[in-house]
Amino acid sequence: MQRTYIGELNKKVGEEVKICGWVDVRRDHGKLIFIDLRDMSGKVQMVALPNHKEAHTLANTVRSEWVLEVSGKVNARPERMVNKDEVNGSVEIEVLSINVLNEALTPAIDVRGDGIEIGEDARLKYRYLDLRRPRMQKNIRDRDKIISFFRDYMHKENFVEIETPILMKGTPEGSREYVVPSRLENGKFYVLPQSPQQFKQLCMVAGFEKYFQIARCFRDEDTRGDRQPEFTQFDYEMSFVDQEDVLKLTEKMFIELVTKLYPEKHITQVPFPRITYKDSMEKFGSDKPDMRKNKEDKNELSFVWVVDFPMFEKGEDGKLSATHHPFCAVKDEDLENFMAGKDLLSIKAKAYDLVLNQLELSSGSVRIHKSDVQKKVFEHLGISDDDQQKRFGHMLEAFKYGTPPHAGFAPGIDRIVMILNNEPNIREVIAFAKTGEGKDLMMGSPSEIPNEQLRDLGIEIKKKK
Ligand code: AMO
Repeated sequence: MQRTYIGELNKKVGEEVKICGWVDVRRDHGKLIFIDLRDMSGKVQMVALPNHKEAHTLANTVRSEWVLEVSGKVNARPERMVNKDEVNGSVEIEVLSINVLNEALTPAIDVRGDGIEIGEDARLKYRYLDLRRPRMQKNIRDRDKIISFFRDYMHKENFVEIETPILMKGTPEGSREYVVPSRLENGKFYVLPQSPQQFKQLCMVAGFEKYFQIARCFRDEDTRGDRQPEFTQFDYEMSFVDQEDVLKLTEKMFIELVTKLYPEKHITQVPFPRITYKDSMEKFGSDKPDMRKNKEDKNELSFVWVVDFPMFEKGEDGKLSATHHPFCAVKDEDLENFMAGKDLLSIKAKAYDLVLNQLELSSGSVRIHKSDVQKKVFEHLGISDDDQQKRFGHMLEAFKYGTPPHAGFAPGIDRIVMILNNEPNIREVIAFAKTGEGKDLMMGSPSEIPNEQLRDLGIEIKKKK
């Protein structure tokens, strides 16, 4: 007999079915044994009666989280027993036979509640159990729906998804990079991308015009509730466009996402309000202004554009650095000063952020597409000619081969799902998340590697004194 998914049972009243899943809970009521069985599509109550002797005896032995295949009859529940709040609240399975596919230890953590009260280390160590709880199942499945929505949207708009390398040369985007030693060239290293920034710009040089990618990014920085060492960006880039085109496409897409997938939510203001970086700092003391009308309202979504970010900022060491990254174009009115190297801290970039409920959802900018202008940024940042060639020679050269004007954006998927699903941190929407210290407690990484492997890589570990 073909397996029926539990979510389909309410259409099969009177039929005999085979279902598979995990024992959610078992309750003994004298001669009647009730078992709730759960699969990916839902839950159903089953009842083992003494007249099906073999099944009844087996039902007595099963425990929570055992894996069963059950044959049974779908019966309508008596009117007074109907539970309208549950998918299968109007049906019940009369158990005819049970095949135990696998037994289970008593779960190390309770998998039925929302898990909030369980210590996070235990939840991350037993993540495969933690993910069984309905809240986590929902988060991960909603994440997939959001990503699918973005993919479909982009394809309808004629964007092409292009996978860019994970092993690459260092990117200069501010955070520390994860490094990967080369075996074939000892002493040399790849780094993992902080974002596909340079590759997506090179895709514009290559003539793809509309690129996107659901891209895994890696940053070796201290983790927080809204940060993980590896995370996912919905990265896109377009040619022959200006800032307004990126803002329009993005805004329309987010409104459609909310309307289609989260109809219970409402957006505070459409079109999304815009504020300059300067005004935001003056009025809100932050570049992530909170414009919600009612902070208690879980369904309010307050999107705000922050525009005109400064191109440069001064670090604690007194050195100039790029506020967003060194590939942002400067505003037309500041170009003269920029080329002359005058008043650099007052120069604004064509750079924009999208903020949602006080959280930075995304950053982007119009990019520099001329080699001499790009070189100027590096000069202002104090990077020597020699270093420029070593680190960014490929970009400076590529821009000489007919590079179109281009601009892009990169919303963080984890943050989007977190806010839309009202979760307090992004670990709740990442299947196999890491701890605050960047550890994977389930597999136990980072971990040591065998000496032989170290030798191959030309690496010797110096013990800390
Ligand atoms: P930026 O560094 O601002 O821009 O990153 C864009 C968005 O990615 C998300 N994000 C993170 N999410 C989780 N954990 C992290 N550690 C983390 N770091 C960033 C945020 C953020 O807004 N290449 C540029 C984009 C561009 O210019 O097109 C970039 O990476 O949601």
